[in-house]
This record gives sequence, structure tokens and C-alpha cells, in this order.
Amino acid sequence: MTPMPDKWDDYCFDLEGFLILENVVSPELIGEINEKVDEWLALSDAGEEWLGNVHVVKNESTSSHSVSFRNVIEGGSCFEALIDNPNWIEFVRRYVDNHGLHIWMNFLPIIHQGNHVRLHSGGHNKMYRTSFWYHDDRFYCGNLNIFLALNDIGPGDGGTLVVPGSHKSNLSNPLVHQKGQGRKNYVLEPGDMAPYLKEVHLKAGDAVLFTDALIHGASVRTNEGERRALIYRYSSFWTRDRFGYEYSDELVARLTPARRKIIRPIEPSKPPVVQYE
Ligand SMILES: [Fe+2]
Repeated sequence: MTPMPDKWDDYCFDLEGFLILENVVSPELIGEINEKVDEWLALSDAGEEWLGNVHVVKNESTSSHSVSFRNVIEGGSCFEALIDNPNWIEFVRRYVDNHGLHIWMNFLPIIHQGNHVRLHSGGHNKMYRTSFWYHDDRFYCGNLNIFLALNDIGPGDGGTLVVPGSHKSNLSNPLVHQKGQGRKNYVLEPGDMAPYLKEVHLKAGDAVLFTDALIHGASVRTNEGERRALIYRYSSFWTRDRFGYEYSDELVARLTPARRKIIRPIEPSKPPVVQYE
């Protein structure tokens, strides 16, 4: 049976801006994805930047993901299967503009020892992407992130950091957003922010769902090894891909109609092809 958000889920999501969804992907599928990532890492270590239609982006800075595989939906059936994963799709439909969905960004970030992601975002920012509205028993989030853990993420692993409730903040957080002074790094030195930060711990196959309006980041990975995650960002059907990637006709052709509707919600309109003798 497809899990549906209940009144308690709605209450917690409204209050805190995030929900943890346990066991949303089977160990078999997680294993399949990780095998693919092992293959891709070997290829990217050998200098490949494009793995078919999947794009490898490496980051020199330690204040972001170490490596990102972007446009991963093109990477195989294990990624296609999660477009409308029944264990989260009704939550997504409930919390995003429910006239139609679009995955406007999909990527698989890896964090190595020493890396973290700086805190960013917040409810003070009223642009569409960080919008969070509730009206007449409907939620309207401009962007809802599904962060799926591909390995266990516990203390020292570089877990997602959130500031519960910050999606409703009217004011820019002066400790996180310091205009003209450069960004202080409140992941490395939480200081006064420490009591407000929650580090999300997940088992492989669990996910955290959160509105992009929430202040979020990732704590420093102090443990050896790497943190692996898959992130699908859902928005309204009329948005465009974040980086301009266009799905291949082969992918679009083999998807179920329900999945196609989420990655290409608006079919291109073109004049008919005229055949000349
Ligand atoms: Fe973010």
C-alpha cells in the first residue's frame, strides 16, 4: 500500500520543515545504486567527465560536496525506479504544488573525510524556490528535497544539518548570512547556532524530506570513508532543469507514462515534419 502523509506528518512537516521517512528503498536497490557508483568513481578517477549522459563534477573546496554525479536519472533503471517511488511520492504530491510535479535537479553527491556543506537558505528568502505556503488544506513548497541515504549516516559521517522551523523565519539569520563580511562557517564553528542545529542520522535506504526554505547544510565528515546520498528535488511542473540538462529521447521513450510526466511534464510543441518528394 502506498504510504500517505497523515495529519501527524502534516503537523510535523508544517512545524519543523522536514520529515524522516524510514526504509523507503530496499537494500537490493541501494546495493545496485552503490555498484553503479563504484563503477562511476573508477571512471571519474581515470579522468572521465561524462559517463554517458551523467555528468561528473568535482569540487576542490572542502566546504561543499567532494564529487557530484549530476543528471543521474540517465544512469540506469535503479534511478528511474525512484522518480515516482511509491514510498515517498504521495508526500511529495502533498507538499509541492499539487497541480503537477517536475524533478528540476537530480544528483548523487559524495562527501569525503574533511568535507562539509555550509549552512544556507531560510524562510526570509521569499523567492519561489524557497517558498513555503499553506492555504485551504494545501501545501505549496517551491522546492521539496528528497535526500536518500545510500550508506548509513551517523555521528562523524557528515550528516545533513537542519534548523527545525527556520523555513518560517521572517528574518535572515545574522550568524549564517553575513552580508559583506564573507560567510562565517557555522558548520565548522557552530557557536551560538549549536542549540538550533539538528544533525539527521539515517540508515541506508532511509530518506529525509525537507523544504528548501529550511536552513540546511551538512556537518563535517570526520570519519574515514565517504557519505553517499541521492538527491531528487521536486518542484512544480512548469520549472526547468537546474543546469540545463535535457533527458535523452531513449530515456523518455522507455519510462512509464507516470515517470515521464515527472521528468518531462510538458511535451515539446513542434510543427509537423514536412516530407518533400
Ligand atoms: Fe541546499
